[in-house]
Amino acid sequence: MAVALHRLTEWIGQRPALDKVGDGLMWVLGPTFNSRLVKNAANGTWLGHPLHPLLVTLPIGTWVGSGLLDLLGEDNEQAADTLLATGVISALPTAMAGLAQWVDTYGPPRRVGAAHALANNVAVVLQLASMVARRRGRRGLGKGLSLGALGLVAGAGYLGGHLSYVLGVGIDHTAFHDPVEDWTSTEVAATAVEDGVPMTAQAGDREVLLARHGGEVVAYDAHCTHAGGPLGDGTIVDGCVRCPWHGSMFSLADGSVVEAPATTPQPRYDVRLSGGIVEVRSSSPA
Ligand code: FES
Repeated sequence: MAVALHRLTEWIGQRPALDKVGDGLMWVLGPTFNSRLVKNAANGTWLGHPLHPLLVTLPIGTWVGSGLLDLLGEDNEQAADTLLATGVISALPTAMAGLAQWVDTYGPPRRVGAAHALANNVAVVLQLASMVARRRGRRGLGKGLSLGALGLVAGAGYLGGHLSYVLGVGIDHTAFHDPVEDWTSTEVAATAVEDGVPMTAQAGDREVLLARHGGEVVAYDAHCTHAGGPLGDGTIVDGCVRCPWHGSMFSLADGSVVEAPATTPQPRYDVRLSGGIVEVRSSSPA
């Protein structure tokens, strides 16, 4: 079964028709994330990891609770309806947080994400229809619509899991980089690190970003935590390095994320000079 589900999800990721769904979503909602404030808030940059996985617990939890109360009979009707409405309301910020992550995906992740969003949107429509049916006294129909919505949410949840755990959307792309325990030479002279110009250097088997900040040489993991973009090919803006792939900005002072889509700070290295050559080692957590 696992292989069949995996293949089905891969098949979804290869469907060009989903690009049209994605293009439509981008056209309607893409500009919302042009604002740094909205982008950071919706991605979860302030939280240190993506916000979407936290928020999904609200609609899923309330809708499952509502479904269970539906099974328990008419004494629980009011509570079931309240949970149902709470889930519908919470679906909006949950969807926005998911979209914030999705707008910076391409290819199969974008298509699987579009299918995930489509299934969840249909589920919300079914739940809204269920609310109307319940208010009109057609509880049987309402319960049936809610059951259908829960089925769609389960399918969408599978696709969401595939996006993270198989396709790597939303994970820290430096998570599997072993720390550089000992001082290691980059074989780069400090004088070669110019103000305003990021560069990539090699420290053993690790690529590091070298840049100047406040006149000092600073070093960070060379691969962006968001999706592994090469920060050495980025640009220096306002004391930050901007990733060339999706525009995340990391402070050169401490690696903190200044602009999403990244949510995890960039791993930092201690720097010392030995005979004018830059040496680095992984910084201990402060
Ligand atoms: S890889 Fe996406 S912002 Fe760097």
